[in-house]
Amino acid sequence: MISSTSEERLADLLQQATEAAKRSYSPYSGFKVGAALLLNNGQVVTGTNVENVSFGLTVCAERSALVRGVSEFGPGIRIAAVAVANLNGAASPPCGACRQMLAEFAEPEALVVFPAALGVKTLRFDEILPLGFDMKLKSDPVKN
Ligand code: THU
Repeated sequence: MISSTSEERLADLLQQATEAAKRSYSPYSGFKVGAALLLNNGQVVTGTNVENVSFGLTVCAERSALVRGVSEFGPGIRIAAVAVANLNGAASPPCGACRQMLAEFAEPEALVVFPAALGVKTLRFDEILPLGFDMKLKSDPVKN
């Protein structure tokens, strides 16, 4: 597996997320988001947000990429890194629903690169989702 992702690889992933954002279908919010997932098999899958006139049906960029990744490469995919970009000059960390969806396939140490208030931020996946829902008993990352 790809355990550490180079700065160069992450910059390329961010560029691919930006390209994906250009394909956004977002006539209702005007907020154009792109996501790029680096898989452990070395492949990159991208996605963009697809809105609907029934607003709640909107699919985020991250989940578009995830669904595409499983559809193309099967249920065994593992995510080594995630990049998110938007064309609106705004902060856009992955939303809670996307974090939970990505958690199913992401390595805890996967790096997540996203636009934050003060420029692009890189965090580990287990930092952005420390206590996601899981039916398996594991040690709790958050101590009581
Ligand atoms: N959006 C994403 O694509 N990813 C997120 O993590 C949060 C929000 C999209 C959904 C909607 O089309 C637009 O951004 C504004 O919420």
